[in-house]
Amino acid sequence: MKYKSFGKTGVKVSELIFGTWYLPNQVIGGKREVNKSSSIKLIKKAYDLGINFFDTADVYRGVYDRDTFLTNFEKVGLAEKIVGEALKGYDRESFVISTKVMGKTGPLPNDSGASRKHVRSAIRKSLERLKMEYVDFYMVHGPDEDSGIEQTAKTMNILEEEGLILHYGISNHSAHNIIKFLNLRYFEPLEPPSFIQDKYNLIERELENTNIKVAEENSLASMIYSPLAQGVLAGRYTKDVSKDSRKEYEKWFEKNRLQEENRASLDRFNEVAKSKQVTMSQLALSWLMHRGKYLFPIIGATKVEQLEENVQSTDLVLEREEVDSLTSLFKVANR
Ligand SMILES: NC(=O)c1ccc[n+]([C@@H]2O[C@H](COP(=O)([O-])OP(=O)(O)OC[C@H]3O[C@@H](n4cnc5c(N)ncnc54)[C@H](OP(=O)(O)O)[C@@H]3O)[C@@H](O)[C@H]2O)c1
Repeated sequence: MKYKSFGKTGVKVSELIFGTWYLPNQVIGGKREVNKSSSIKLIKKAYDLGINFFDTADVYRGVYDRDTFLTNFEKVGLAEKIVGEALKGYDRESFVISTKVMGKTGPLPNDSGASRKHVRSAIRKSLERLKMEYVDFYMVHGPDEDSGIEQTAKTMNILEEEGLILHYGISNHSAHNIIKFLNLRYFEPLEPPSFIQDKYNLIERELENTNIKVAEENSLASMIYSPLAQGVLAGRYTKDVSKDSRKEYEKWFEKNRLQEENRASLDRFNEVAKSKQVTMSQLALSWLMHRGKYLFPIIGATKVEQLEENVQSTDLVLEREEVDSLTSLFKVANR
């Protein structure tokens, strides 16, 4: 595993981040639940493979159910608890953690948002669940029109001063918002965010010329989520291996433009991977890592084999022409 600076923070992180939105799971009494012991093993495996960066969120339950997401808070923070348990006993300085605030974590009116009131309460709860004294990278999970960016930035700066977080970032904000945050440094004595977290992959490239570009131009690190389009770019749905996949059990699984318009591109992509003697997921992750200096894919996995396969992507070196040719392979779908 190679390590590089997380944008201008200077913190050395692994080229790949391990994400905990979906963790290994099983069906118990007709209900899909996180398999805690497999999840802990998987996180430890990621650590053993050299990943030193783990991404979670206060709202993550390890299994996503959109139907009950806004009404059932029983399992809120379960992923944070599992991350904390898995990394307990390791030197705290040997890994970095990112977590998030904003999503609804309870039934009260102030159980969500980016207000100082909620953020202060949320960081305390996240730290309790993680059983840690500080979070390296804390982010606002989405925009909050009510709270205002000045307040959010100031609250994050206070948490930094108090040592509860080291750096803050923003996720799922518009490019316009990212620029507004960055401009705060000129008008207020506020430290701007150090990183963003957004969706970007070969198929879903809507943010390529907006958020990703703004981040690159301003040396912000970009944590890239769904780098495999939730498994589509790993060939999860083109090979006959879709059994027990996310698509099978998540009612609202986004199709990620999986359908006709992309099938031909996926087939060609598979051929290129074969010719290079790598897998589709390795090629898709490598493409991302070659697309920018500070792009860090957050990989999701529900099986050790997936993790082992994906980690090998960091050894793959692509020529400039190869990167460009892959970029244009999915052009039709991105028109
Ligand atoms: N900020 C946000 O709003 C936001 C949103 C989404 C995600 N995230 C973060 O980003 C992380 C990653 O997102 P993601 O899970 O969507 O990423 P992803 O890497 O695009 O998808 C991961 C899924 O792809 C399949 N997969 C992975 N490797 C495979 C392989 N080698 N062969 C076959 N299938 C493979 C698995 O699906 P199966 O589970 O079906 O086996 C795995 O769970 C999340 O855990 C979370 O930390 C953040």
